[in-house]
Amino acid sequence: MKSYNGHQPILAIESSCDETAAAVLRAPGEILSSLIASQAEEHARFGGVVPEVASRNHLLAVDPLVRRALKEANLTPCDLGAVVATSGPGLAPALLVGAAYAKGFALALGIPYLALNHLEGHLLSPFLGQETIPHHIALLVSGGHTQLTEVRGAGDYTLLGRTLDDAAGEAFDKTAKLLGLGYPGGIEIDRLAATGDPLKYPFPKALMERGERENLDFSFSGLKTSVRYFLEKHPSIATSPEGMADLCASIRHAIVDVLIQKTARAVEASGLNHQEPDGSVHVAVSGGVSANKALRTGLQELCRTKGWTLHLPAPELSTDNAAMIAFAAIHHLKVGESSPIGLEISPQWGVGK
Ligand code: KG4
Ligand code: ZN
Repeated sequence: MKSYNGHQPILAIESSCDETAAAVLRAPGEILSSLIASQAEEHARFGGVVPEVASRNHLLAVDPLVRRALKEANLTPCDLGAVVATSGPGLAPALLVGAAYAKGFALALGIPYLALNHLEGHLLSPFLGQETIPHHIALLVSGGHTQLTEVRGAGDYTLLGRTLDDAAGEAFDKTAKLLGLGYPGGIEIDRLAATGDPLKYPFPKALMERGERENLDFSFSGLKTSVRYFLEKHPSIATSPEGMADLCASIRHAIVDVLIQKTARAVEASGLNHQEPDGSVHVAVSGGVSANKALRTGLQELCRTKGWTLHLPAPELSTDNAAMIAFAAIHHLKVGESSPIGLEISPQWGVGK
């Protein structure tokens, strides 16, 4: 098997949920192509992702997508230096499709195969194009995960806190469903919240009390229950545009305010604000929910007042894509790492100890 020389373009495949994605990237950050085949519409009628439907669609989409990605990059398979696929966490039947395809591709070409963690892809996405990753606190907020991580560099992660139940994106999607909005509901709530009053309805913010040892975990399942009871008690509020705007703004505030405050607490608890010789503090946010307008402006405001540097992914890199998978993979490949072809997928694979 040829080894990766650090310069050849690599192919990445992402199929952990309801999006098939393929990208070709040249280190450290030249995206030669990045394509996404979304199945969101097919799952929308079920109100969530159906694993077997996702798997069947990945199977249909992956080969034509990879061919197109190579064509757009103006490359042939022989130009590639490695092939990487998301191996977890995610839906097992969905992950299997991308991983099996990537293994076959790598095997046929005699080049390295790498199994990559989807969360690591999100974590490093704000730094796409950079050779080195600064020591920082990362808030990862997606449809399946919500966690605060101390990142010392690529591959060196400490988990500081995570959700004990629903993820932030899930909280948006589930409350949106209660409001009769489409799936995924995070974008809809964000849009409708624009003209609403965020303080109109004080929905609960869990695990916010301060203790001797800072609690950096999250819990969003109580919010969903509280919104359900509220709608049962006041069924007419959501029927007027103003009422809907206030409800959406209040729900968004209940989620986003917790995320912002806990990010600030994580920086303080980690001592990062006293560690770096030049006094610089870096904060990053990634995952689908990082597209949320209130979260973006709230974190920008926090970092501006504290003098911290905020790193946000480009909007097209915040939701699931394969370019972020390729970028994170480069950091492993360039130090000689690869995965055995026989490696199984890891649907529960976490990031950080
Ligand atoms: O990272 P992602 O694309 O997929 C996962 O790995 O889960 O995140 C998808 C999640 C969905 O829950 C979606 O509702 C949420 O990101 N999302 C948003 C916004 N855009 C996407 N949530 C709130 N506001 C948004 N603007
Ligand atoms: Zn994701």
